[in-house]
Amino acid sequence: MNTSWLTNLTVAAEGSTFWMPPQASTFAVEADAIYYFIYWLCVLSFVLLMAATALFAWKYRRKSEDQKTSPVKHNFRLEFLWSAIPTVLLVVVFAWSHEPFMVMSQQPSDALQVNVTGQTWAWTIEYPSLNKTCTDQLVVPVNEKVNLRLKSNDVIHSFWIPAFRLKKDVIPNRYSGYWFEATIPGEYPIYCAEYCGQGHSIMKGTVKVLTEDEWDAWTVSNAPEDCGLDLTQSIDIVGPILFQKHGCATCHGIEGQRIVGPPLNGIWGTEEQTDKGPVKVDANYIRESILEPGAYIVSGYKNEMSPYAGRIKPEELDKLVDYIQFLTEPEAFKTGGAEGQDGGEGAEKKTEPEQP
Ligand code: CUA
Repeated sequence: MNTSWLTNLTVAAEGSTFWMPPQASTFAVEADAIYYFIYWLCVLSFVLLMAATALFAWKYRRKSEDQKTSPVKHNFRLEFLWSAIPTVLLVVVFAWSHEPFMVMSQQPSDALQVNVTGQTWAWTIEYPSLNKTCTDQLVVPVNEKVNLRLKSNDVIHSFWIPAFRLKKDVIPNRYSGYWFEATIPGEYPIYCAEYCGQGHSIMKGTVKVLTEDEWDAWTVSNAPEDCGLDLTQSIDIVGPILFQKHGCATCHGIEGQRIVGPPLNGIWGTEEQTDKGPVKVDANYIRESILEPGAYIVSGYKNEMSPYAGRIKPEELDKLVDYIQFLTEPEAFKTGGAEGQDGGEGAEKKTEPEQP
């Protein structure tokens, strides 16, 4: 986690230029051509302007104490040219950009549909046709069209894939989106490009572009690292994966460290000081804190988490509640599945395994 930005940097460095990451989508070549056209226009304008400024400052400097400024007259031809030439250049930039922009804006109907949801501070990536959900990981086949439908659960984010030269605001209460066709298999970083609060800079992910064979294998795979998940595995395996998948790790430490929200180890069975007084940390409290984080705010923290009600599967919620218990009481899960199941309903059974 701490070094993922470094990995992202290394990934981006491969096949890239000084200014640009690799050209990994069909839009990239043309976008770069327009970029470099504008870039060199700017360089040229800068050099001409600075050279003229320096030359005139020297040539027309005051040469004696009593020298007066000569009267300034119009130069129609010069004034016309310095207006007309930039106008023509700007029209060229507009006309050149307009066509690819229109192509980018019209999402094809024969593309793989992927739904992307932004929330502080993680991306949920859903494949309706494959019944798969990933967090912070977009997996796509190479040389195939992909439609992204973007929405936000809270504030405005921006889904940016530099290697594809695509970026669009992700807005609450409205869908936005774009489409692309990836051209080079590999891994490329995703960034949030709209300031969305304290965790904005850690709101990133990865696009994995797979070859045809890899894609076919991925669509049927259930391996946890491929975003699918086998919930019957033991909690020490499933817990950390769910904790990452749902973006919990972005804000909550499990080794006592304060990130954005309170650390979650060592809290099970204790009393938490909240804005509504002390609360016993049990299964129901954890469950409610995931679904409706605003119900109780732990003292010293702000209400910054977006609610998970309606966007986490009940089975996965149960496992997360188990995992929070596991962080404090790993011994409760020693005997495997049976007791792990109990953890989810732990509130009623009132286990008090406090060490005497
Ligand atoms: Cu989300 Cu910045």
